[in-house]
Amino acid sequence: MRWRLDAGTTETLLRAAVAAPSIHNTQPWRFHIHDGVIDVRTDPARRLRVVDRDHRAMLLSVGAAVFNLRLAMALDGWLPVLRPFPADGLTVARIEPGRSGAPGPGLRALGTALFRRHTNRGPYARAVVPARVIDELRAAAAAEGAELTVLDRVRREALLTLTAAADAAQRRDPAYRRELATWTAGGPGRRDGIPAELTGPRDVHGWLPARDFGLLSADPGRPAAVFEPHPQLVVLSSRADGRTARVRAGQAMQRVLLSATVRGLAAQPMTQALEIPRLRRAIADPADPWAPQMILRIGYGMPVPASPRRDLSEVVVAAGAPTTAV
Ligand SMILES: Cc1cc2nc3c(=O)[nH]c(=O)nc-3n(C[C@H](O)[C@H](O)[C@H](O)COP(=O)(O)O)c2cc1C
Repeated sequence: MRWRLDAGTTETLLRAAVAAPSIHNTQPWRFHIHDGVIDVRTDPARRLRVVDRDHRAMLLSVGAAVFNLRLAMALDGWLPVLRPFPADGLTVARIEPGRSGAPGPGLRALGTALFRRHTNRGPYARAVVPARVIDELRAAAAAEGAELTVLDRVRREALLTLTAAADAAQRRDPAYRRELATWTAGGPGRRDGIPAELTGPRDVHGWLPARDFGLLSADPGRPAAVFEPHPQLVVLSSRADGRTARVRAGQAMQRVLLSATVRGLAAQPMTQALEIPRLRRAIADPADPWAPQMILRIGYGMPVPASPRRDLSEVVVAAGAPTTAV
């Protein structure tokens, strides 16, 4: 039996791909379907010039979409195969259906989380994540070539201090504020960025140095909440730090996030310290070759709504479109 990429299958695969998380919900991806393969590309026009100078967050975001696409293909009964792709500065993965086969229970479970995973910016319960769940998250990262480190008390406090320093520096930076304003402006019919209802409650005690997407909109109706005083943080690292390594790290991040969702965990990236090179170097252990790519706060939270996505017609590359980066 041969794989057929009819309209229904295309829609199923792309809907899964675009459900991926992306920095500031920029959705910096494009998909080119041709000759029985799907090319996943970055959309450089959607890269954040201030917080993502080195393109890392964009590559992680697109990597997450690659993972979802692979997963959706497997759920459709085809083993996804990653193929060599053109070095055109845009394409980050070429995915082809390999042999047919039913997905195992692990992948089927991840599939149930595809559209239930949402970034959760609310307070989490003061409950410890059990060791067996942490082990599953570690295994999810390892399955994609990454390492997940659970921080002990000392390292957690150190990372929270660095994150608070990064957050304060970003808040003071007019360019950061302009960029944040662009992606939190909302507006009727807008299908990207972070709408006001997803900024999460205000942190009454200021315990958690999370990025405040409500920073520029003094909303008097925004609820306030007490956040957990000792957030549980995990750091995802990759062995290398080039373009390919970052796309792989994005796939690992997404596998971890979906595995967390399967276990009923909430998660929120907290990446400010990774966006300032000096602080990112401080997080990396000089004696350790692994490069930090993602910081996640995990725990048990109340359900949150989904964030918007653009129409698929906006992310599909039309036949004959230019293939080189501008
Ligand atoms: C590389 C990267 C960095 C992110 N950094 C943050 C962050 O610092 N704070 C935050 O609340 N969310 C962060 N996010 C989550 C995005 O804002 C979120 O994925 C996006 O708004 C889409 O929402 P969803 O995850 O609910 O689908 C990050 C996501 C990615 C992929």
